Amino acid sequence: MEQNKELNQIDIPLAKRIYINNSNSILFKKLLIFSPFLLLLFSYAALRLIKNIEQTPFMNLNFQAEKNQDNRILGHLPYAEIPKEKLVLIEPNIEVHIDMRDSLLNMKKEARKDGIYLVFLSGYRSINLQKEIFYSLKSFRNQEAAERARVSAPPGYSEHSTGFAIDIGDATQRETDFETEFENTDAFKWLIKNAAKFHFKLSFTKDNKYIDYEPWHWRYEGSIEALKVFESSNRKS
Ligand code: DAL
Ligand code: ZN
Repeated sequence: MEQNKELNQIDIPLAKRIYINNSNSILFKKLLIFSPFLLLLFSYAALRLIKNIEQTPFMNLNFQAEKNQDNRILGHLPYAEIPKEKLVLIEPNIEVHIDMRDSLLNMKKEARKDGIYLVFLSGYRSINLQKEIFYSLKSFRNQEAAERARVSAPPGYSEHSTGFAIDIGDATQRETDFETEFENTDAFKWLIKNAAKFHFKLSFTKDNKYIDYEPWHWRYEGSIEALKVFESSNRKS
């Protein structure tokens, strides 16, 4: 065999002769057999490396994903609609979550004792009604989504759909309904001093970057269910 190899190469010029090294050929065959596994190993290592780079704060590649971890849309958190059986009518056109009814009515009664006349402007709003408000009414104003979202939540993102939100006005100054000027009314001043006693909190304060200040919009946090609903909001804002 060794002799044959040498004979075969006699008429090939020295520079062009191929000497097959037996041990190299075995190594090559082994490489060929293991190449799919090596390829898999290499791909896995490459993927791990890319993932590590993305997680490096210095690279800041997943900044947007982190920012949106709570699923906000244009600054609004998602809220599920309250089940119908938990809704109660407290006065014509005003429905609220049953958990907050007593506290809300009690707050109105106590305010009256102090000479303050609160008026309820809007309570529960269905996701469908919110859709109407966000897409139909606002489109007449030729506003883009981000502009609309400064004053109205997109459907599925309003605290009003939980039944735990209430818009409040001053019965003696109705011209300030849904206006920033509501903050100058006696009703608002009374609320700032007393609302927390009844477990109400102002939702959209002046420091919110995406949503306009709404001195009239209060939410109830006086039950575990309500606290669960607003947990994300209380943690992030
Ligand atoms: N006006 C508030 C943001 C809402 O629509 O829920
Ligand atoms: Zn509101």
